[in-house]
Amino acid sequence: DDAEHLKPRAPVVTIMGHVDHGKTSLLDALRGANVVAGEAGGITQHIGAYQVKTPDGSLVTFLDTPGHEAFTEMRQRGANVTDIVILVVAADDGLKPQSIEAIAHAKAAGVPIIVAINKIDKEGANAQRVRERLLEHELVVEEMGGDVQNVEVSALKKTGLDKLLDAIAVQAEIMELKANPDRAAEGTVVEAKLDKGRGPVATILVRRGTLKVGDIFVCGAESGRVRALIDDQGKQIKSATPSMPVEVLGLGGVPMAGDTLTVVENEARAREVATYRQEQ
Ligand code: GTP
Ligand code: NA
Ligand code: MG
Repeated sequence: DDAEHLKPRAPVVTIMGHVDHGKTSLLDALRGANVVAGEAGGITQHIGAYQVKTPDGSLVTFLDTPGHEAFTEMRQRGANVTDIVILVVAADDGLKPQSIEAIAHAKAAGVPIIVAINKIDKEGANAQRVRERLLEHELVVEEMGGDVQNVEVSALKKTGLDKLLDAIAVQAEIMELKANPDRAAEGTVVEAKLDKGRGPVATILVRRGTLKVGDIFVCGAESGRVRALIDDQGKQIKSATPSMPVEVLGLGGVPMAGDTLTVVENEARAREVATYRQEQ
């Protein structure tokens, strides 16, 4: 419907891999943040969503997923909303069950994989062994004549990060990612919760259109009006464009992760759609 209004958008990149292979550390290094320090037991238990400005000025949206085996559903969801998967493999530990699970999720979703071989600074790191093991899962890296990009990195020493961003840029360019920002917004619920002070809050990844404060919407079986939008820095913003992750306040109830948010023209229409969805 909106082919002629398509404009380039930031790639959405989901970071996946086995527990403690350094996904959040890598994202922290890319963002200049320290999320790991605030995690209970150093274990990620939710999907984090962030936008990073690369040295060349372009934006990349990152979703951080947990590696603990209990969180299969979150990894699957992460693979389903993304353009590219970064598979983080610790060079000293190699391919492990959730690395292999992540490969399966990416393949099922038809999403290209870039492999980040992390912890390259550690004694016992063996990147070549990782590349060889990837072959067993039909991921053939460029050095072996395939088309899977792999980058050796250290989240700790902050090495290889620019190369990783370059690899993402190369992959994103091939994909020619576009969306129409000039239409009613549509997005996907990455996470949702009931916040004591703020009421129902959903992290939405905007897929198309521009989501604005005041917009009336249906979100899964819930409806509402955008009361506030909060970006990944905790800052209130007026609108969110395609590929942006944003916290939405003003929901009538807590939607489910994976639900679609659709902006509609008025409250009567929102109630109609929400009622219809509740009956399904
Ligand atoms: P989950 O989300 O719980 O699956 O873990 P994760 O993959 O996000 O790993 P996390 O970033 O929590 O890092 C796990 C541990 O590995 C921490 O102690 C990090 O400091 C350490 N670590 C991460 N990256 C590196 C690295 O490049 N080199 C070294 N030596 N240690 C690292
Ligand atoms: Na961890
Ligand atoms: Mg983590």
